[in-house]
Amino acid sequence: MTTPVLQVRDLKRDYVSSGGLFRPAKVVRAVKGVNFSLEKGRTLAVVGESGCGKSTLARMITLIDNPTSGDILIDGDKVDASHGVTKAMRQKVQIVFQNPYGSLNPRQKIGEVLAEPLLLNTDMPASERRDRAMAMLIKVGLGPEHFNRYPHMFSGGQRQRIAIARALMLNPSFLVLDEPVSALDLSVQAQILNLLKDLQDEFGLTYVFISHDLSVVRYIADEVMVMYFGDVVEHGTRDEVFSNPKHSYTQTLFAATPNSGVEHIKARLAKKAALAAAG
Ligand SMILES: Nc1ncnc2c1ncn2[C@@H]1O[C@H](COP(=O)(O)OP(=O)(O)O)[C@@H](O)[C@H]1O
Ligand SMILES: [Mg+2]
Repeated sequence: MTTPVLQVRDLKRDYVSSGGLFRPAKVVRAVKGVNFSLEKGRTLAVVGESGCGKSTLARMITLIDNPTSGDILIDGDKVDASHGVTKAMRQKVQIVFQNPYGSLNPRQKIGEVLAEPLLLNTDMPASERRDRAMAMLIKVGLGPEHFNRYPHMFSGGQRQRIAIARALMLNPSFLVLDEPVSALDLSVQAQILNLLKDLQDEFGLTYVFISHDLSVVRYIADEVMVMYFGDVVEHGTRDEVFSNPKHSYTQTLFAATPNSGVEHIKARLAKKAALAAAG
């Protein structure tokens, strides 16, 4: 039995809103005790409506935000925030957000964006940093001609490829993707999801994939965890959860989802390919 890449035990996060003159301070429990364990090479999808605590969970497991209580173990090592998170630990976790533009420096060329994690965290000589950045650019489906371009010169889908490439530069233990395709057109969504699958197959990557879109989740996930007001109400393999949702919230969520999105695109592309083959 190998050590799971990520283990989370009874993780909780409270937010305290400072009260106003006539309002008492209020505690919002955004995440109410989450448990899971994720093996290398797998994708755990976290699903639920806006405000259910998905991003709060994402920030804790990527060490951006401290839990109120509970444990996080990365490659079997417990994160001890009270003693400061080590640089080595931070390198093991990477996150890709819905809108990568916000995290890209507009004055930095893409080649520099990709080489920067190596500059900050390794002793690698400049030529090797450059070679690795170029290789990663190509791995994510961009070309050498993009190396010296600036972020504003790219489309949303290309920027998301850049964000993924940057997240992979330090060979992380796992990658958290927080609604990574939610702002993209459907056809571009499918391309990015395919890229993520290809990269996972090639490098054995481990993903925590956050989404409110069930068609996307069905396409990408091995396991599905459903959150509802900070609680995990369902957790199982993709097929278990989709074919036999147990919790009433999951049943409602599934019933409310039209058969669209990526599933629809795939069906359409398959039909087109069949027609082309026949003609
Ligand atoms: N920095 C914050 N301060 C106070 N409340 C917050 C903060 N971040 C999130 N929340 C609250 O925590 C809950 C979960 O939010 P979030 O994790 O962003 O949900 P999701 O990503 O599923 O939409 C919401 O009620 C939200 O208003
Ligand atoms: Mg969110």
